[in-house]
Amino acid sequence: MRESPHLGATVTPLAGAGQRLAVVGQPPAADGPDAGRARDAKPEAGLERTLLYVARTPDPLLCAYLKSRGWEVATARTVHEASRLVKPEAAYAGIVDLTGFAPREFAGLETILRLQQVGWIALTDDSRLTDAEVRRLIRHYCFDYVHVPVAHATLDYLVGHAFGMVSLCDLDTPAAAGSPDEDEMVGTCEAMQQLFRTIRKVANTDATVFISGESGTGKELTALAIHERSARRKATFVPINCGAIPHHLLQSELFGYERGAFTGANQRKIGRVESANGGTLFLDEIGDLPMESQASLLRFLQEGKIERLGGHEQIPVDVRIISATHVDLEAAMRDGRFRADLFHRLCVLRVDEPPLRARGKDIEILAHHVLHKFKQDSARRIRGFTPDAIEALYNYNWPGNVRELINRVRRAIVMAESKLISAEDLDLAHFTAQQTVTLAQAREAAERRAIEAALLRHRHRLTEAAADLGISRVTLYRLMGTHGLRDEKTFFGGEAENQAELPPDAHD
Ligand SMILES: Nc1ncnc2c1ncn2[C@@H]1O[C@H](COP(=O)(O)OP(=O)(O)OP(=O)(O)O)[C@@H](O)[C@H]1O
Ligand SMILES: [Mg+2]
Repeated sequence: MRESPHLGATVTPLAGAGQRLAVVGQPPAADGPDAGRARDAKPEAGLERTLLYVARTPDPLLCAYLKSRGWEVATARTVHEASRLVKPEAAYAGIVDLTGFAPREFAGLETILRLQQVGWIALTDDSRLTDAEVRRLIRHYCFDYVHVPVAHATLDYLVGHAFGMVSLCDLDTPAAAGSPDEDEMVGTCEAMQQLFRTIRKVANTDATVFISGESGTGKELTALAIHERSARRKATFVPINCGAIPHHLLQSELFGYERGAFTGANQRKIGRVESANGGTLFLDEIGDLPMESQASLLRFLQEGKIERLGGHEQIPVDVRIISATHVDLEAAMRDGRFRADLFHRLCVLRVDEPPLRARGKDIEILAHHVLHKFKQDSARRIRGFTPDAIEALYNYNWPGNVRELINRVRRAIVMAESKLISAEDLDLAHFTAQQTVTLAQAREAAERRAIEAALLRHRHRLTEAAADLGISRVTLYRLMGTHGLRDEKTFFGGEAENQAELPPDAHD
């Protein structure tokens, strides 16, 4: 299901930009591929469409055209003028014409590009794009960019999307102040738009889907989105984490058992496969499936029938299977730990989750989304992030992806001592550009990141994380204490052994 990524140097339509893919409680896609587009381009009822146009020499024809399209246009020739025009808590579309500004003015421009309530479209030319700083500004802060000259209608279309997006994310408008959907998927970057398109396509079929992606990227959310948009949405979505269930129990958990099948089997138990009949079975961490269960699953995929443990009856079951893993299944197949024939059955369609660090402005949008969702956890009225915090969000590598971002922002909401969350509240002070970092600090940060990443990769299974890091479990436990990571399982979603609270193994 891979398609070529967004490489457009000129205008590429932002299909569905500004859209959140509501996963729960939303009717399935009765829409065509362009439905999000058309909706987003229109102003929301009662919302004034304000546009900030920043250019050394603003184009009067463009201003007139945008006004004729219903935009309230405010023009600024300097950064100072622009920052005076922006009212807090209002949403704006923004056009920034980078062709008229000198490189020494970029630092100033960055302060306005950072304003989270403005959805920017950059105007540029080929020569500007050779400047790495210009490319960085566009990547970090803009929804899209276009080469000049550009058709006015195209710009109207793009700013419509950008405005739609920031209006959704504007934290303090009454429209956004209601309780947000529990399980919505937020994403505006091309990689996420691609993912949303893929979800819609695969939802229309009954073929098996294999979702691959780093830990915390949203694999389960994607599986649920596929189910919710499929013909099976009225039946159940049954998730099972193959890595969290002891191997000897997995077979009966998946396929169930008959009364008397083994000592203690006092009554019949229906397995997860059977309970998903008519719906979708989500096999998470499929790489952890033991060989015995791999064989049974393969048989089920071939025959569409299961046999409960201790039973003799072949029971037909109609389920759609979605599986996921954050480990390298190709390597597992090479090592003989995973059956290639099963993998090919499971992976008729493949979905790849982009890591958070590759999602550009979505990092900031997600941070605001999480803040909005959980800000009531703080007694203070937290209003946003400091510029340092935003800088750090972009500079950090996010090994734990969206889950880590959620946990860092939630922790920051509780820790923040002012109305704005700082890089320090996010525990990302080392990732601000302004900060001078000593070698010792850099080493410490790198060590902490490596430990965090290993713990994340292995869901707090200390023995495996320590092996990955090439240290003993005792050393890992000590270092977790040094870096204040012993309680992190609550923040980073450790779920398996949760040994972080336990004293280290005496035999280690
Ligand atoms: N695009 C998104 N928008 C909003 N929330 C998201 C998004 N992607 C993931 N999340 C949230 O991030 C958290 C992690 O997502 P999820 O459990 O689906 O990830 P995962 O890839 O299955 O992780 P793991 O590999 O650890 O099992 C969840 O709370 C989910 O709701
Ligand atoms: Mg998962």
